[in-house]
Amino acid sequence: MCGIVAYIGHQQAYPIVLKGLKRLEYRGYDSAGVALLDTDLNIYKKAGKVSNLENFAEDKNLNSTVGIGHTRWATHGAPNDVNAHPHKSGNDRLAIIHNGIIENYDALKKELIKRGHIFESDTDTEVLIHLIEEIIAKDNVSLEEAVRYSLNEVIGAYAIVIIDKENPNKLIAARNSSPLVIGIGKEEFFVASDATPIIEFTKNVIYLDDEQVAIIERGQEIKIVDIANKQITPMIQELEMNLEAIEKGGYEHFMLKEIYEQPQSIRASMLGRLNSVTGEVTLGGVEEFEAKFMNADRIIFVACGTSWHSALVGEYMIEDLARIPVEVEYASEFRYRNPILSEKDIVIAISQSGETADTLAALELAKEKGATIYGICNVVGSSIARATDAGSYTHAGPEIGVASTKAFTAQITILALMALTLAQKKGSITKTRYQELTNQLNDIPRLVGKVLESNEQIKYIAEQYKDAANFLYLGRGYNFPVALEGALKLKEISYIHAEGYPAAEMKHGPIALIDENMPVVAIATRIANYQKVVSNIQEVKARNGNIIGIVTEGDEAIRAISEHVIEIPATDEFLDPLISVIPLQLLSYHIAVMRDCNVDQPRNLAKSVTVE
Ligand code: F6R
Repeated sequence: MCGIVAYIGHQQAYPIVLKGLKRLEYRGYDSAGVALLDTDLNIYKKAGKVSNLENFAEDKNLNSTVGIGHTRWATHGAPNDVNAHPHKSGNDRLAIIHNGIIENYDALKKELIKRGHIFESDTDTEVLIHLIEEIIAKDNVSLEEAVRYSLNEVIGAYAIVIIDKENPNKLIAARNSSPLVIGIGKEEFFVASDATPIIEFTKNVIYLDDEQVAIIERGQEIKIVDIANKQITPMIQELEMNLEAIEKGGYEHFMLKEIYEQPQSIRASMLGRLNSVTGEVTLGGVEEFEAKFMNADRIIFVACGTSWHSALVGEYMIEDLARIPVEVEYASEFRYRNPILSEKDIVIAISQSGETADTLAALELAKEKGATIYGICNVVGSSIARATDAGSYTHAGPEIGVASTKAFTAQITILALMALTLAQKKGSITKTRYQELTNQLNDIPRLVGKVLESNEQIKYIAEQYKDAANFLYLGRGYNFPVALEGALKLKEISYIHAEGYPAAEMKHGPIALIDENMPVVAIATRIANYQKVVSNIQEVKARNGNIIGIVTEGDEAIRAISEHVIEIPATDEFLDPLISVIPLQLLSYHIAVMRDCNVDQPRNLAKSVTVE
């Protein structure tokens, strides 16, 4: 939620900050703004996308070698020009950009109003910059001291950068529970919510930790202290990502590129973990915690959205193969419902971004209660990855489209590897079955490539149903979470109402919705309950629903009763979700494009949900 970028050095700041904002637009696109320092502090901000800001600022004074910028996902206050960041202090000396929420802003605001502060916006952020201004004036302290003092008074999450008219060679940055990366160039510094605005300038970065403040001065070494003023030695790390990975590479949308990247991203998730010659699986994090996993009473997955759907697949996989009880929890519910946890529980957070506030909080709660915590994240160095005792990166590469695609299949790949590792260690799988599954897993990237060849057919089907008002997705067993995921993909990018259901559950209510206007996507591959799914589809047919079947190659029974079938290659049902989800991703993509929706940046959403 919200992207922040800042620059200080010898180059013009505005083009760097603007480009950075475009890269971070996936984090929110309700408004955008910059603050630049020439002789004056110049702030330009506009509601809407970064391109609105770009048009607005075109003829303004953009001269400055220091600047801060923000792209907003609105929490406090409507998405208009006034509430756009940067916000400035009452005396026009300071400006701030902020990602996060100041929870006690109301109490602080009332206090500041009593002291004569006048606020322009409805945001929590403006309160923070006025508080800093107040502390500078009242205590006669430096900017960095005032920032530290103010952060001691603040409750909530923040990644902030402050620019000061009286200190044109300085930026102050700080973080708590919202991500912040500092790039160290040659006599220049970059600050951003993630590394994508930084990567083309330097690979050397510092990930700021919670309650740390960075004092970034032109021509000086960076200084980091905590909010109690304890000196911290900066740890410089090297970025592994490359520039091509964050560009569209000829595709019309990031989402399409990411769908097509799945043969490679699934392969990358397996790399070094599945030996394609011997079929042996080694999943580092699990090896490290072998004793804990072997003695675990339960595994509890915490996640949100698409990652929660992966967790459901993980539940089926681990219970099926490794016979360890698994629970799947919405992180947002888990954190507030006083769950029973013990030292014999392993809590696994699944998160593409590694920054989802609810997932992080659920994990912290589990840690407090003594459980072992594990992370399955995509973004290297993210907050969840750093908070966990052990974990596995999915290595899917940057996912920029707001709707998650390759992250989902990468998470499931890791979960398959985890289930196989645990099953082998527990002795709950035969050698033959293990070999069979590892061989098939190794072949999944090729099979995904084959499914992608159906793109034109899927586009044709999308054309037939693009104007539908509702969609129903049905699946059983391993394909039930895929039905949920298919429905989520469609609603979030095309704004068509869609629901996912276990196929057999349909008769307990949703069947009432079925008529000749209802498209029903039935994920009906040749799994154990295939015949039962066929019967469920018959029930739809009998009520004139329009059936789009996702079936195993060569299927005749479902073809005979469906309006359309999309064939996918046969695989063990344990691995089915990795390929059965692909046509659903493409279907929602094409429908959204045909409905003229903003596929990569759907309304009201953001890629990284760092607020509750
Ligand atoms: C859906 C989607 C969201 C995320 C959810 C969790 O396409 O992207 O539902 O899956 O916000 O995000 P992460 O995985 O980053 O924790």
